[in-house]
Amino acid sequence: MSAIKKTIVLKVDCENPEREKITLAANVIREGGLVAFPTETVYGLGADALNPEAVRNIYLVKMRPPDNPIIVHVARKEDVYRLAAEVPESAEKLMSRFWPGPLTLVLRASDIVPRVTTGGLDTVAIRMPRHKVALALIEASGTPIAAPSANLAGRPSPTIAEHVIQDLYGKIDIILDAGPTNIGVESTVLDLTSNPPQILRPGGLTYEELRKVLGRVSIHPAAVSKKEFHIKHARSPGLKHKHYAPRAEMIVVEGEFNAIIRKVAELAEKYLGDGKKVGILATDESIRRYNIGIVKSMGSRSNLSSIAKNLFRLLRELDDEGVDVIIAEGVPQKGLGLAVMNRLRRAAGYNIIEAGS
Ligand code: TXA
Ligand code: MG
Repeated sequence: MSAIKKTIVLKVDCENPEREKITLAANVIREGGLVAFPTETVYGLGADALNPEAVRNIYLVKMRPPDNPIIVHVARKEDVYRLAAEVPESAEKLMSRFWPGPLTLVLRASDIVPRVTTGGLDTVAIRMPRHKVALALIEASGTPIAAPSANLAGRPSPTIAEHVIQDLYGKIDIILDAGPTNIGVESTVLDLTSNPPQILRPGGLTYEELRKVLGRVSIHPAAVSKKEFHIKHARSPGLKHKHYAPRAEMIVVEGEFNAIIRKVAELAEKYLGDGKKVGILATDESIRRYNIGIVKSMGSRSNLSSIAKNLFRLLRELDDEGVDVIIAEGVPQKGLGLAVMNRLRRAAGYNIIEAGS
């Protein structure tokens, strides 16, 4: 176990990050320490990506399996040419169109990237976050920053600093608190070493957007699977580990909207009858249809980005309320709905019920 540390929590202005706070955090990165910081997707837990000892500490404090590689965050596109052994034309096109933003590119790694950062793979995942605090921190550190989401392995990703405090207080050096993150689900991870390029993890940048620029894009079967997927040759080891799980048992109900509502209500009644404390993850369009259990709306079905933004926070809130079972409505898998459904299904351990029509 790692020793208990004094963790400093610093409030930072998300539009005009205070220079002295950024400098303090950057010095910690340079000295091999750990800094949690906001990005536009979720909070990350950062260390100097080129310092193997520092990166090893990320795995330790998160209790992350050592074969799950970490995304390297940059503030300048030039750094991609140092970190990657090859930068295909498709990467250049995507970077100029979508960076800074929620798109992570998997490329062949150069020799300067420690293999602890890539989880032992010969590829490296790189992204440029669209957040002033993240960019200021990377720039001031003068080194690329390796950062997984700043949660304990398996827990929902943090979308407010309070979540980072819950999971990592006393284990890391600094938490930069700039308020809630904008997108709420992690970046899209796109493998550019395969042909056609393949989405390994659906996220904040949609499949539809990628299709417009690339033409052909495939999606890793595990990313859209309704069952637990056993990955042999792990090009994306992240897909195989337990993830986003609340403490409560969780069920996702999928199907046609009205059938979902009937099934969720029926399940809630059954579990309440068994003496269980029930939480329901509804949507704005359905929330008034339930009159039992602790009911929360994820957002509007006509605005899937609102659902993406609230999802992880609500999973943690229901856990804090001590529910035994979470019953969640499925949403359409278009736009950000693809990422939302991937997170919901994995959070539920693929405990999916088809509501029929
Ligand atoms: O939005 C995000 O991506 C956030 C913020 C902090 O940037 N970060 C994040 O990191 O979600 P993490 O570690 O929680 O997820 C990284 C994902 C995992 O699924 C991992 O397996 C995959 O990216 N990954 C990292 N390097 C890879 C590589 N070389 N090849 C394939 N997959 C990789
Ligand atoms: Mg994560």
